[in-house]
Amino acid sequence: MSKPVVKVGLCGLGTVGSGVVNIFNQNGGMLSNRAGADLQLFHVGARRDNPNCDTSKVQVSRDIFQVVHDPEVDLVVELIGGTTIAKDLVEAALNNGKHVVTANKALIAEYGNELFALAEVKGVALRFEAAVAGGIPIIKALREGLAANDISGIAGIINGTGNFILTKMANEGSDFAEVLAEAQALGYAEADPTFDIDGTDAAHKLVILSAIAFGTPVNINAPFKEGINIVGAEDLEYAKELGYRIKHLGIARNHGDKIDVRVHPTLIPEGKLIATVDGVLNAVMVQGDAVGEVLLIGPGAGAGPTASAVCADIVDLGREIGLGQKCSIPALGVTAAALKNRELMPMGEVESGWYIRLSADDRPGVMAEITKLLSAENIGIDSLIQKHEAADAKRVPIVILTDPASGDSIQRAVNNIAALDAVNGELVKLRVEEFRGK
Ligand code: HSE
Repeated sequence: MSKPVVKVGLCGLGTVGSGVVNIFNQNGGMLSNRAGADLQLFHVGARRDNPNCDTSKVQVSRDIFQVVHDPEVDLVVELIGGTTIAKDLVEAALNNGKHVVTANKALIAEYGNELFALAEVKGVALRFEAAVAGGIPIIKALREGLAANDISGIAGIINGTGNFILTKMANEGSDFAEVLAEAQALGYAEADPTFDIDGTDAAHKLVILSAIAFGTPVNINAPFKEGINIVGAEDLEYAKELGYRIKHLGIARNHGDKIDVRVHPTLIPEGKLIATVDGVLNAVMVQGDAVGEVLLIGPGAGAGPTASAVCADIVDLGREIGLGQKCSIPALGVTAAALKNRELMPMGEVESGWYIRLSADDRPGVMAEITKLLSAENIGIDSLIQKHEAADAKRVPIVILTDPASGDSIQRAVNNIAALDAVNGELVKLRVEEFRGK
């Protein structure tokens, strides 16, 4: 008996789009075999060809909407990025009764709720494995593989460009701008790399993970956000000296009645596996009540890894379309009607350890003034470094690691420290997460 045919329309031939074409060209037979259907890359929509892939055997249209309105296409892959045309395109595809696969985290973070609801109404699927952590199958793992667990927290390195930059700065002393240019050349960075650097890209991914983990609608406004741009080369050095690594983490925690959702540079003990995840690798740690701690590590950006996740979604849908089944796994693990909003914990209430770096006059009594202000807020000191860089230096860098304290109490202490006559210039404060006992 011949296999059912599933025709795939691909919109966008950038880094990821070319990766998808290459996977189809190299492994197309295997994909079809796994899907139990004849998966055909049938119609590509792209403004221009991409020399990194061969589309000579596929129908190509310069108007991407021709793909979406092609009556023969069963499944549309959206890889154009952005949230304007991409949204119109996905809506049009869903309205035409076509399944959609996308790698577009900004689109899902911003418009996921309405697009999932539309897909539900139309009886089609909207899949987005590639939107979070590139080649790591974290969406499927969280939504399906860990479905038995009450999730207490997620912490992940979920921006490959940011991790690539921090790693090269920490391990090779590289210059920020040079490493960013390298990440762009390797196809890791966003079209506007500001999103990689200021934490926006990680925040988009985190709200998607958090929605699945906690059964909430996707809330793009939820995360507190700090980027890697607040980390200086000296902070990476001091962190190492103290036995920590600095990673840009997306963290979401379940506090029972509330959740906290945040992306920020974080000091992690060097002995934790996630602290050793370097370069463009991503890692997502999930804590579940039944499973304990799970850590998934893999390439978080780039053509091959992201296309791998896109093609996995295509195979998954191909299986169900081929068998004539309704693609029934809800996008976020439960139906839109079963999602529940959760109150957000204000960042001022979220507790963690803190790393503080400041510069102070090198004279007796200054350290006592600083520690007194911390103790006035009941903040204990865990470690302290005071560097005398030159015998005649008038100022010294001081680095303090504190015991856990709330965002509000550390902010009050830091404001008072900054107001001391002896303290001048830059004052950096970063959260420390020990990830103990989880
Ligand atoms: N710019 C993103 C990153 C691409 O570096 O992680 C993958 O989402």
